[in-house]
Amino acid sequence: MTKLWGGRFQKSAEQWVDEFGASIGFDQTLVLEDLDGSIAHVKMLGDCKILPSEDVLQIIDGLEQLKIRAAENSLVFSVANEDIHLNLEKMLIDLIGPVGGKLHTGRSRNDQVATDMHLFLKNRVGEIIELIEIFQKTLVEQAEKHVETLAPGYTHLQRAQPISFAHHLMAYFWMLERDKDRFHDSIKRIDISPLGAGALAGTTFPIDRKLAADYLGFSNVYANSMDAVSDRDFIVEFLSNSSMLMGHLSRFAEEIILWSSSEFNFIELDDSFSTGSSIMPQKKNPDMAELIRGKTGRVYGNLMGLLTVIKGLPLAYNKDMQEDKEGMFDTVHTIVGSLKIFEGMVRTMTIHTDRLHDTVHKDFSNATELADYLASKGLPFREAHEVTGKLVFLCIQRGYFLLDLPLEDLQEASNLIESDIYDVLSPLAAVKRRNSLGGTGFEQVKIQINEAKMRLA
Ligand code: ARG
Repeated sequence: MTKLWGGRFQKSAEQWVDEFGASIGFDQTLVLEDLDGSIAHVKMLGDCKILPSEDVLQIIDGLEQLKIRAAENSLVFSVANEDIHLNLEKMLIDLIGPVGGKLHTGRSRNDQVATDMHLFLKNRVGEIIELIEIFQKTLVEQAEKHVETLAPGYTHLQRAQPISFAHHLMAYFWMLERDKDRFHDSIKRIDISPLGAGALAGTTFPIDRKLAADYLGFSNVYANSMDAVSDRDFIVEFLSNSSMLMGHLSRFAEEIILWSSSEFNFIELDDSFSTGSSIMPQKKNPDMAELIRGKTGRVYGNLMGLLTVIKGLPLAYNKDMQEDKEGMFDTVHTIVGSLKIFEGMVRTMTIHTDRLHDTVHKDFSNATELADYLASKGLPFREAHEVTGKLVFLCIQRGYFLLDLPLEDLQEASNLIESDIYDVLSPLAAVKRRNSLGGTGFEQVKIQINEAKMRLA
């Protein structure tokens, strides 16, 4: 103890500092990727005659044993060994002796950790794409059952024009299709190996980076070793794609929450995706939808977090980059859970078609039909709009809807109106007539569903 207060401070301060710097608490998630990365690396060292084959075989055997223990969850990690890389290296040496110390030849933790992250994301993005697709299939199945279910379409959350309920559901299909596309496109930037970049400058050993990349199933290798160890764009991109996805899920969640309120009463969520209140016995809460809406915040936060971490970092590796992990793991966990829950929620919900039907018939969302009718008879649309607005006002005063107005009242407002107006004003006809490409007309919705199915096939 050189310092007077050392006995009291130094030891505990050191441990605390260790804990602050350690990543093992969270990077143990990468255990399998790290072991696979090491196996590929040491195989390559053998192939390139950098290590003798007896050493390589022993090391691989040790790493395989660690993989088995990892799968059994029986590895015990320690903060003293800082991170997953040093923990596993220490375990290997304990297991097979000093030859284990040869594993790290021609490698650094900097290319090692980057390799782990690429491997991890490559697999997870594949799983996420599959989950999106499962959800899309469920949406299409529900949509197919509700092509002819009339529902109010909204703008400003005010009833605007009647639509096919399937059309509304399919809007989410297309959002998810873009999300899926983005994840798909990102794979080419994830599927690239940093292994062999060393600490930053490459290595003096005659390694074969492409061979190691092949062993790991990577399609490509980074062309620049400094870029290889300091690139975290692929994680930012993943968080950005995830944010967009969560934004979509959150919008849908908001609608599910509105729709399942007594005020809307358009749907009822299945008991298995709802919760009760501890005090109000009558309540059935859309907790899962609310949680997904809420969890969107943490995914956006993770994106902002990493963007901020990498901003202003000099080349190449900096310890700041250790902060890339928790947000990424958390995001994977959050979007996987959200996609699974949402799929189940939509698959099992009951859609109140009668209530939707009533809602469409007891409102003014057919007003555009009247204006269009007059316009098609030559009245300038602006005047048609005015005439219709006045009739809506008349209805409100009398407690009517447009379909309840006697023909005389309609004709008093405009002599262009004839008795065929009642067919025109029917919400069913209104929806059917919207047969423009991508519109809500039943024929268009069916075309859309067919295209969706072709994409899923
Ligand atoms: N735990 C570190 C991380 O996650 C591993 C790389 C450490 N490299 C270093 N030069 N300290 O970023």
